[in-house]
Amino acid sequence: MNHSLPLQFDVSLRARNTFGVEARANAYLPVSSLEMLRTVRDDAGLATMPRFVLGGGSNLLLTRDLDALVLHMVNRGIAVVGEDPDHVFVCAQAGESWHALVQWTLAQGLGGLENLSLIPGSVGAAPIQNIGAYGGELADCFHALQAFDFDSGQVLTLTREACAFAYRDSIFKQALRDRVAIINITVALPKRWQANLRYVELADALAPISNPSAIDISEAVMAIRRRKLPDPAVMGNAGSFFKNPVVPVTQYQALQARFAKLVAYPQPDGSFKLAAGWLIEYCGFKGLRLGAVGVHAQQALVLVNYGHAQAEELLAFASTISQAVQTTFGVRLEIEPVIV
Ligand code: EPU
Repeated sequence: MNHSLPLQFDVSLRARNTFGVEARANAYLPVSSLEMLRTVRDDAGLATMPRFVLGGGSNLLLTRDLDALVLHMVNRGIAVVGEDPDHVFVCAQAGESWHALVQWTLAQGLGGLENLSLIPGSVGAAPIQNIGAYGGELADCFHALQAFDFDSGQVLTLTREACAFAYRDSIFKQALRDRVAIINITVALPKRWQANLRYVELADALAPISNPSAIDISEAVMAIRRRKLPDPAVMGNAGSFFKNPVVPVTQYQALQARFAKLVAYPQPDGSFKLAAGWLIEYCGFKGLRLGAVGVHAQQALVLVNYGHAQAEELLAFASTISQAVQTTFGVRLEIEPVIV
């Protein structure tokens, strides 16, 4: 085993997942450079161990101890790396906090990421689920990323198209799952910035300000988030626990006929995305607590850990919720965080 690496053994991950669930890692390595990833791959003892790449741990539910080498990306750095007539390109290393990147760009006078202010987690994790909120998603401003491929030992460059971004989805949840470690990402920020006020509550909050700046939007987004979403530093959670289900127009119409207040958004392909928070609230779960787990009182899509909840309790509660939604609406809810 390579002794130049700062490996740790039998490490608690409780402080490294925002749900605050206890789980232990067999081996743990804070990764601050590409060289360290190469060393792990080339080391006879480490190469055969299962690997798990960890970012901010904010979209994760650990259900067991990990008999694996946990690679925690902690590489840092944010810089302007170029421009073209329409964009400024900013590259951020995977271990930076996502919100720190948003703030850094705004401080440079660069707009584009403001709708994604205050999303917990790291830069390297952002592409995995194509983070999105308040009318925007990472894919809107994404340019490219670099990832270390453990299969080939090469550094891959993936463009936006190659990442296959979709709603809370990307190639990193599919074909490249467990195969790569994202090293850095580059965003393309528009030189002719325009406010994105598609999210109605955001537009309403900014109505008193004429021509809101990117910083105004960032502040309004932060205020909405603080009102609706629990701060993981205070109460364990992983944001939305379920995806908003997408259903065909016929199913939407049948539901709409039965539930006049159903909240849904038409999709470009003619299907409808249902607000899962509304479905869950309708079934009576909003604010409900069962032992150490509960449904957040301000946002029914968020499950919370009130203390020492085990993953089994969270999953059992989630399953009760899904069954109620399935029975009432005939709609299947899909879990959003990565379950390990
Ligand atoms: N709603 C309710 N009751 C609730 C929650 C929501 O009736 O308890 C209804 C309301 O009508 C509301 C609508 O659902 O207007 C949508 O709610 P909200 O705007 O809060 O967003 P969401 O669809 O519940 C999604 C993302 C969030 C993101 C927000 C804002 C998913 C799975 N979640 O939630 O992302 O912050 O939109 O854009 O798409 C995350 O992914 O972890 C996350 C927090």
